Amino acid sequence: MPTSFETLPSNQPTADSIRDNILTNPGFGKHFTDHMVNIRWTVDADWHGHQVRPYGPLVLDPAASVLHYGQEIFEGIKAYRHADGSVWTFRPEKNAERFRRSARRLALPELTDEDFIGSIKALLAQDHTWVPTPQSDADECSLYLRPFMIATEAFLGVRPAHEVDYYVIASPAASYFKGGVSPVSIWLSSHYKRAAAGGTGFAKCGGNYAASLAAQKEAESHGCGQVAFLDAAESKWIEELGGMNLFFVFKDGRLVTPRLTDTILEGVTRNSVLTLAKDMGLTPEERPISIDEWREAAATGEITEVFACGTAAVITPVGELVTENERIRLQGDGGSEVAMRIRKTLLDIQYGRSEDKHGWLTQLV
Ligand code: COI
Repeated sequence: MPTSFETLPSNQPTADSIRDNILTNPGFGKHFTDHMVNIRWTVDADWHGHQVRPYGPLVLDPAASVLHYGQEIFEGIKAYRHADGSVWTFRPEKNAERFRRSARRLALPELTDEDFIGSIKALLAQDHTWVPTPQSDADECSLYLRPFMIATEAFLGVRPAHEVDYYVIASPAASYFKGGVSPVSIWLSSHYKRAAAGGTGFAKCGGNYAASLAAQKEAESHGCGQVAFLDAAESKWIEELGGMNLFFVFKDGRLVTPRLTDTILEGVTRNSVLTLAKDMGLTPEERPISIDEWREAAATGEITEVFACGTAAVITPVGELVTENERIRLQGDGGSEVAMRIRKTLLDIQYGRSEDKHGWLTQLV
């Protein structure tokens, strides 16, 4: 029997005209819908109190352990409106599985698929009018969903909290990057590292993102939009961008991405790209790829494109890699033909414009 959610509807929902205005130009992560989900966990009562309630500030005890030790995890997943008005999400069971992996690493309680997917359905049942309608095939608007879990027990000792809250909030979204799809410049962080073996790199926890911000500032001071991280042990192997995975297109049809280790986040988009690449006749390869290989294969023209991928940013071509003393560009400036083809294939599935032959979509509304 699926758990049912008690719904407490907002008595001050956003006026239709204001919401419609937001949906014409939502930006990314700036506006939030009228409701949120909450499920509570305590060591004695397990998960309980499933609720959809008005969106609003949380009341937290100043001693809540998330505020001190960062015991927190989150997910990113989107809801897409199809041409017939129905609303769907993409591979939610992959996010649910990753959320449990992150929970185990952060010593948080695990949430079942049923509660994870059920919470998204329950929120969408209330807030489906917030899912934007794409105006063209190039319009990648969606409702970005942010499930997260925080340790809420008021206690100053360092141990796993005995009280935890799970929430889902939702934010209408346009393209993650302001200018839409155009090649980004990437800064290669030589000093900062994102993750080390045995650490939390594979988990989607706030601390990983907090730790990437100084490197991101460094990237911006060098005119770059994103930062790439190398492995902590040898400073040799490409890992990820911190919020996105990386792919390298070789001229012989190989599509290479760093092999998963416990220092790399397993992206749902990454996993989907590997499958779609095979469908498209490319040869996906998951293996270590070094910064030296990137430099040399870019110079010889063996690598023809580099792109980044993630739920928020979908697929974004990488224009150049900038380091302290060099700029690694692709011959003929790369072009983005393969990246854009994979991007279109993925978006066409997500928006219901092509057959979902891998069974990746789940209907929400
Ligand atoms: C996502 O792609 O959904 C993420 O969580 C990454 C973040 C940079 C927005």
